[in-house]
Order: sequence, then structure tokens, then C-alpha cells
Amino acid sequence: MPGSRLCFLHISDLHILGDEGRRQHGADTAAILRQAVPLMNALRPDFIIASGDLISDESEESYRRLRTLLQPVEAPIHFLLGNHDDRAAFRRVFHPGEPPSADPLCQAFERGGIRFLLLDSMLPGKVEGRLASDQLDWLEGELAAHSDRPTWVFLHHQPLPIYLRWLDALGLQNQEEFLEVLARHPQVEVVGYGHVHQVRRWRYRGVLFVSVPALAFQFSPLSQEPEITLETPGFRRVEISNGERRHWLHFLDGRVVPEPPLSAIPIYIR
Ligand SMILES: [Fe+2]
Ligand SMILES: [Fe+2]
Repeated sequence: MPGSRLCFLHISDLHILGDEGRRQHGADTAAILRQAVPLMNALRPDFIIASGDLISDESEESYRRLRTLLQPVEAPIHFLLGNHDDRAAFRRVFHPGEPPSADPLCQAFERGGIRFLLLDSMLPGKVEGRLASDQLDWLEGELAAHSDRPTWVFLHHQPLPIYLRWLDALGLQNQEEFLEVLARHPQVEVVGYGHVHQVRRWRYRGVLFVSVPALAFQFSPLSQEPEITLETPGFRRVEISNGERRHWLHFLDGRVVPEPPLSAIPIYIR
């Protein structure tokens, strides 16, 4: 869409708790979110995608606290759910007019000529994730029906290995099935995910796979065993203007780190 500009933020893993006094691994996640909100508002995004682990304990009380903390956010937020979420409790607080079902929460919308597909990879009672066959069918149907639209897909669990043994055991369990759907639809440009509490960036079969830091504690990218760090939380800003896609990582200490443009051409050496 010539002349148009779209700006959105990808945030993830807010891990809010209903109990004001509780810390998680030394992190006060409510204080982190309070600090992030004015930074997010200052960027004036068109919308925000929050890719799961919105709360830490699957409780309605935590969702109520999250709703209060997010009240000053000016942009609309599109939510995904992660392994620490609860579908019915989320619906009771964020969609009180709807039946609080435990059905997966999927969403498709279009902005600036781009389609956004939000999947639900949570597997109730488990840390690892899975896309059930009806989710994969929904994804396939959406992609087939809009093959002329560049598409970005979001889910909570990592759909590719990140080469940390403990975290890879807890990723998306049916990665190949998901990747096979993507391979049939070349309009998919980017897959965004959370869950790994660190930044990863891979290109695979022409698709860019990107994760974001948690808006909470981080997992060490160096340790092959679970290790938590208090690295600075952050989020990703994406701007799409005149067909160009640009990404920046915004950290809460004020650092803004540009990432290579998506149009970079990969060079294969044989
Ligand atoms: Fe998380
Ligand atoms: Fe998670």
C-alpha cells in the first residue's frame, strides 16, 4: 500500500501475578510493565501483539491485575495465550460478554495490506505446546483463502529449535506439521513467538522467525540448563512503510537496537 505506514509492537511473557508483593526470580513483573507502558505509548503504535504468558499462575485475579496495568495503553492489544495462561479465566476478564469457553483463542486480522494470524499453541496442564489439528486446518484455510496477502503468523511456543536443550524440550511439539503448512504458502513472511524469554532470529525456507525478550525475567542464552537472568526486559517495534519492513528492539533501559532489514538477501556459499 504505497504511502502507508504501519507500526506495531510485539511484546511477550509479561508473567503478571495477582499478588502485589510476590516476586518471580527476583523480578517485579508489574513494575516492569508499568515502566514499559509509557515507552510503548510514546511510540504511538497502531496495535500491539502480546504473545502469551500474560500472567504466571492461570488465575482470574492475575488477569484482573493485568487488565488494570494495561488500562493506560493507548493502542489496541491482540492477545495470544501461553503455557501459564488459562483460556476460560482470560475470557472471563477480557471478554466478559462471551461464554468463558476453554476453546483455543485464534484470531485473523488485516492492517496495511498485511494479514496477521494469531495461533493458540497452549496445551492445558503442560509447559510445552502443540498446535491441534483444527488449529492447523484453520491456519491452512486462512492462508489458502488469502494467498495474495503478505502474512505474519504469531504463536507462543518456539516453532524451531533454539539450541538450548532444556528449552527445546518445552517448545512446540509438532514443529514439522506447522512448518509443512507454512511451506505450502509462500506469502508467509514472518513468524513471531515468545516463551524463550530471549531474542532469537532465524531465516528458514524464506520465512523469518523472530522472538522477543520477556517483559519479565530472561532465560540465559548461554546455559544448557535452566538459568534465569535479570537482563533488561524489552520488546520489538516493527514499521512497515512503502513495502519496507524494519525492526527495532526497545529495552527498558532506553537502548534502541535496529535489526537488519527483512529485505536483506541471504547469500549461500556452497
Ligand atoms: Fe514465559
Ligand atoms: Fe511460556
